[in-house]
Amino acid sequence: MAEWTQRLLNWFAQYQRWMPWREAPQPYWTWLSEVMLQQTQVETVIPYFKRFIERFPTVQTLAAADQQEVLKLWEGLGYYSRARNLHKAAKVVVEQYGGELPQDADALQQIPGFGPYTSAAVSSIAFGRPVPVVDGNVLRVFCRFWGIEDDIRQPQVKTELQARLEPFIKDAPPSAFNQAIMELGALVCRPKSPHCASCPLAPDCVALREHRTADLPVKSKR
Ligand code: ADE
Repeated sequence: MAEWTQRLLNWFAQYQRWMPWREAPQPYWTWLSEVMLQQTQVETVIPYFKRFIERFPTVQTLAAADQQEVLKLWEGLGYYSRARNLHKAAKVVVEQYGGELPQDADALQQIPGFGPYTSAAVSSIAFGRPVPVVDGNVLRVFCRFWGIEDDIRQPQVKTELQARLEPFIKDAPPSAFNQAIMELGALVCRPKSPHCASCPLAPDCVALREHRTADLPVKSKR
């Protein structure tokens, strides 16, 4: 394992925040939490997640639910298409997959509402498959760490970064690897004034060494 990967995993083991879906991971929880976490902060999601799994504890109960009730539980989280897609996908999982999510990221992408991000997150976190997730946090961390100057609005930057991370995730526990990077992006490698003094990646960080943390990642104006 690369030294930076080991330091990242040690940091995560020590500093990760408590999240209910990390307690007793099961694929449905991972899926639900990753959908709720798109566009929404962890603290906001936690009470919604708890209410949701109390009312709909399984994919089957969700699939059988009334759409109005699903939307009601989502009220306040916003981006309601997430809830409608989740509900639709639950029905597909029950009707076409016997109630079990497939483990492979490519297979997951066949299910409505599973884009590249959700598929990679569920495949790695719930099933331990070595698929790197690349969201805004991950882009920021590695553009700084590796001094990548490409405009992160270009879609190929995501696929290039995913390919570059693959050999590293293959050497590590995939769930912890991905979640550690997202957690580092949220807590330490923040968009403004990153806390480099407490960063496990600092010893090898190109942006820190070259005093460019404020300039990376590069993101063009729309
Ligand atoms: N943001 C989205 N998914 C996350 C996860 N599993 N851990 C931390 N932050 C996240």
